[in-house]
Order: sequence, then C-alpha cells, then structure tokens
Amino acid sequence: MKNITIAIDGFSSTGKSTVAKQVANHLGYVYVDSGAMYRAVTLYAMQNNFIDENHFDIEGLVSSLPEVNISFTFNKDLGFAEVYLNGKNVEKLIRTMEVSSFVSQVATIPEVRYQLVKQQQLLGKDVGVVMDGRDIGTVVFPYAELKIFMTASAEVRAERRFQELINRGDKVKYVDVLHNVQERDYIDSHRKDSPLVKAEDAIEIDNSNLTLDQQLEKVLQLVAMAIEDTE
Ligand code: CDP
Ligand code: CDP
Repeated sequence: MKNITIAIDGFSSTGKSTVAKQVANHLGYVYVDSGAMYRAVTLYAMQNNFIDENHFDIEGLVSSLPEVNISFTFNKDLGFAEVYLNGKNVEKLIRTMEVSSFVSQVATIPEVRYQLVKQQQLLGKDVGVVMDGRDIGTVVFPYAELKIFMTASAEVRAERRFQELINRGDKVKYVDVLHNVQERDYIDSHRKDSPLVKAEDAIEIDNSNLTLDQQLEKVLQLVAMAIEDTE
C-alpha cells in the first residue's frame, strides 16, 4: 500500500491533533503536531525574555533562531511523539495559557515560519505522515493526497479546551479561554505570511456536534478513499 501525506488544518481546539494521532496510529504513520513547534519557539522566546505582556523583541528572537533546536521523541506509553526544546521535554510547558497567549504573535514572524516549515517538510519526507496545523495543506504539503479542514463553533471549542485545562489542574476561566481562542483565530487568519485558510481542495468537517468516535470514523472513510485513489 502506498504511503500518503495527510494534512489536517483548522481552527484551535477543533480536535485536529486528537484525530491526527488516531489516524497515524491506525495507519502506522508518523504524526507531527506542527503547533507544538510554534509553541516551543514561543516558550524559548518567553524563557529568554524576548516576549512578555509589555514587549516583543522580534529582532532578538530572530537572531537567536539558530539556537532553537526542536525535536520529537516517540513516547510508547502515550502513543505519540513528545516535543523537545534544546534537548528538554517541554510537552507540558508548551500547553499553558501563557504560551497560548503569545504563540500567535510569534507565528506571524516569517523567519520563524521559514525555519519550522523546512523542518516539517523534512519530517514528512518519504514517509506516511499525518500533520496538523494551520498551513499544512496550503504551504507545507500543497500536494498532500488528503487535506482536511476542521471547524466548530468558537463556544464549543473554548468549552473543550477549558475542560482539558481544568482536567490537567490549570486554574483558568472559561471566558479567558474563549477570548484566547477567538483572538488566535483572528491573528492566525489575518497574518500576511501563510494565513489560516482552507485549501481549495480540502474537505471541510464541522465537528461541533460530532463525538471523537464519529469524527474519527468520518476521517478514516476519507483516508480509505484517498489511499484507493492513489492505487
Ligand atoms: O492546539 P491549538 O489548536 O490550540 O493550537 P496549536 O495547534 O498548538 O497551535 C498553536 C498556534 O501555533 C496557533 O494558534 C498558530 O498561531 C500557530 N500555528 C501556525 O501558525 N501554523 C501551524 N502550522 C501550526 C500552528
Ligand atoms: O488539535 P486541536 O487544537 O484542534 O484540538 P484537540 O487538542 O485535538 O482537541 C481539543 C479538545 O477537544 C480535546 O480535549 C478533545 O478531546 C476535545 N474534542 C471533543 O471532545 N470532541 C471533538 N469532536 C473534538 C475534540
């Protein structure tokens, strides 16, 4: 069976990474969470005082990019690859609201995108890959055999993310999560470089009213059809 490239794009908290991991495990493909890479660069920027509530030293961050090394290591117990920043596992640290509040600003910087897109293309080279993000079907893999664009209402997405954060012990308010989701949607869709848009040949799935199982079933049907088309 021929390996294909599967690009899953869409708004925050639409269930992209959940379904991408499930599909990758089902097919024995590599899964890459491209958002984790933007989050890791953001964490680096915070740790090195390039960004906080009051300032953003874009030049400083850009000139330090050669020192930012992002890698993934598969965790057998979790069943997916965790992200490392300069050799340190940062999987938990990158999921905080603080990182979420800065990440879309960092992701507007063309030099950051250039470096990460290059790495993402290498990670998906000559392998079966499922990658999720914002520009996978438009920029990273414009020739992907299957492109999916996930949407859901902002309120549903914020509620999902809120529950996730509460479950891991973070003290957050629903209104702040909703605000963050809406703000990131806006910045991600309006930036100059690689904005979040649905690729012309992407298939849209609105999962506002779908369970995880229902959404997986839908995606697996599309995967089967895409694989059949390549044979
Ligand atoms: O999981 P969630 O949807 O909240 O976000 P994520 O996938 O972890 O991505 C975090 C942020 O990284 C997004 O809001 C975008 O600003 C940026 N991103 C991007 O610009 N391009 C990508 N391919 C992936 C993420
Ligand atoms: O990767 P992305 O930000 O698009 O979303 P995710 O991290 O896969 O999903 C965000 C949260 O929504 C997770 O807790 C999922 O379990 C939940 N979710 C859900 O309950 N029902 C769906 N149909 C999709 C996601």
